Amino acid sequence: MNSVVVKAHPLRCELVRVPIPQPGPDEVLVKVIFCASNPRDWKAPDHLIPGVEINQGNEMSGVVEAVGTNVYEFRKGDRVAAAHPMQTENGTYAEYATAPVNTCFLIPPNISFEEACTIPFSLCTAALGLYQRLKIPFPTSPDNAQIQPPLIVYGGASSIGSFTLKLASLGRFDKLIAVCGSGGEYIESLGIVTDFVDYRKGDVVNDLKAALDGKKCFHAVDAINNGDSWNHLVNVLEPQGSRIAVYLPRLDYTSIPSGISIGITFFGTVHGQPTPFWNHDCAEDVDFAYALFRLVSRWLSQGKILGQPYVLLPNGLKSVEDGLLQLKEGKISASKIIYRVDDTPIGS
Ligand SMILES: NC(=O)c1ccc[n+]([C@@H]2O[C@H](COP(=O)([O-])OP(=O)(O)OC[C@H]3O[C@@H](n4cnc5c(N)ncnc54)[C@H](OP(=O)(O)O)[C@@H]3O)[C@@H](O)[C@H]2O)c1
Repeated sequence: MNSVVVKAHPLRCELVRVPIPQPGPDEVLVKVIFCASNPRDWKAPDHLIPGVEINQGNEMSGVVEAVGTNVYEFRKGDRVAAAHPMQTENGTYAEYATAPVNTCFLIPPNISFEEACTIPFSLCTAALGLYQRLKIPFPTSPDNAQIQPPLIVYGGASSIGSFTLKLASLGRFDKLIAVCGSGGEYIESLGIVTDFVDYRKGDVVNDLKAALDGKKCFHAVDAINNGDSWNHLVNVLEPQGSRIAVYLPRLDYTSIPSGISIGITFFGTVHGQPTPFWNHDCAEDVDFAYALFRLVSRWLSQGKILGQPYVLLPNGLKSVEDGLLQLKEGKISASKIIYRVDDTPIGS
């Protein structure tokens, strides 16, 4: 089958022929119909794990082809979307890919394969940040009905930010404040955010203060992690007892005052991978993901959660290089880049 290996310096992709993988005991093998790109797919070979050259795809939708010996919930022919464990073989930029059942969900009939493939990796990471690291009540908690103090989502139009806002809309917040640029238009169309701050205007701290309107804020999600973002946040969060969820474990967060804690969020914990540098294993995240993915099917079928808008590139797996370059160059606003595997030119 065709599979894409991502290489760095310069960023490039190579289409190679490899055998169709076998699912492990707790995995499904998926015939991939659509796969999606995420920023980590170019960052991994570039600087996170320099020198590594593997198929970096983590997100897909498709049809179950085979199941492992322990799998009882999925069967051949099921329409599914799934997240593949980061930095492991059999990734999703391929005709077939594997995924553990705890990060696989059934696609309800009202959701297309295109929309479904934008969801598993990013929504799961957003949920880890919001519920496991910030400890916001999960939608099934009795506390979910209580109004929470304001929540700020820095990078509201990013995939992480947008899914955080969509999940937050399943609860109740005094204020839901999004820091966005051009992607704010999409977020506004969802009708779930109370206040917007446009980072392009250059006065984020004062604009956040105005949005808070004197209310105390203890929780923020920083999906941008560019230094400015958390420095802006510490100026508006309460100096004691606040918490920021961050998504790049390798960065130096020591400029954040000690009264404000950080929740290091790493998707790998749902697959038993410890957080880099911090070595948190967060073993509870494995079953958290399992429960979340079952509910995601239900929430999608009920219209409570939507996927991310997407841009479909034209040449299937041959377009992955172009997609990763667009991500690296910051050209993507409020959307996922996706590929239809069947669009890969014949003879590639
Ligand atoms: N730890 C983990 O396991 C994990 C998992 C997934 C992602 N991540 C990381 O989390 C980050 C977000 O990933 P993603 O997939 O959500 O990214 P993404 O969707 O590609 O982010 C693109 C968005 O970033 C927004 N943006 C750029 N600069 C901004 C700024 N200064 N202020 C506010 N918004 C800004 C843009 O918003 P506008 O269009 O409004 O300008 C754009 O829509 C990345 O660094 C990624 O590597 C980590």
